[in-house]
Amino acid sequence: MWRRVASLSPLISSSISSYLNQAAYKFKIWESFTTDIPTQAKGGLFSKGKAPFITFVLGGPGSGKGTQCAKIVNNFGFKHLSAGELLRREIASNSEYGAMILNTIKEGKIVPSEVTVKLIQKEMESSDSRRFLIDGFPRTEENRIAFEKITGAEPDLVIFFDCPQEEMVKRVLNRNEINAVGTVDEIFEQVRPVFAGKQLIG
Ligand code: C5P
Ligand code: MG
Repeated sequence: MWRRVASLSPLISSSISSYLNQAAYKFKIWESFTTDIPTQAKGGLFSKGKAPFITFVLGGPGSGKGTQCAKIVNNFGFKHLSAGELLRREIASNSEYGAMILNTIKEGKIVPSEVTVKLIQKEMESSDSRRFLIDGFPRTEENRIAFEKITGAEPDLVIFFDCPQEEMVKRVLNRNEINAVGTVDEIFEQVRPVFAGKQLIG
């Protein structure tokens, strides 16, 4: 269970907290509530010795989470992992699960937790960093349970960028919103008009 905390004691948590407090929009921070030491997954995340510091970053499109993640990376040396990005990379690599992931995303559904968690875990294990921002995860309670079961780790921090729907819609409409799921040519058909309308010099 996650509990809402009024003050965050660990050094990193408090410095992220004060840094993000300057953000223009509302956000919430939870700290994981752990009463026992998480089970160590054999040969998994803890095998390199020091336990990783894991942050889950949640928020809708246009909530500013991507922008803030980049700032957290620069200021606090975190490695940024986006669940959606890892899934899209898996589609592009034509792997065993690629077609299933593509179809699931196209249908607007959530990819089976085990697949997503294993992609995240692989990425964490191959990284030199021990501080991770996991963006867009968990999307469901089942995602969260699978993460804890498979990796044997729990998040140290959960940040939710709580932005009003109206504000998110405004921000998203100010971008050229490209649906990046599909074949290269299908996506380019959406990219083309964005450029075709501009006076390109040179
Ligand atoms: O977070 P993002 O919008 O990049 O995710 C794109 C898609 O990837 C989602 O709409 C969803 O289908 C899939 N996804 C998922 N499980 C996650 C994160 C993303 O199935 N934890
Ligand atoms: Mg995203």
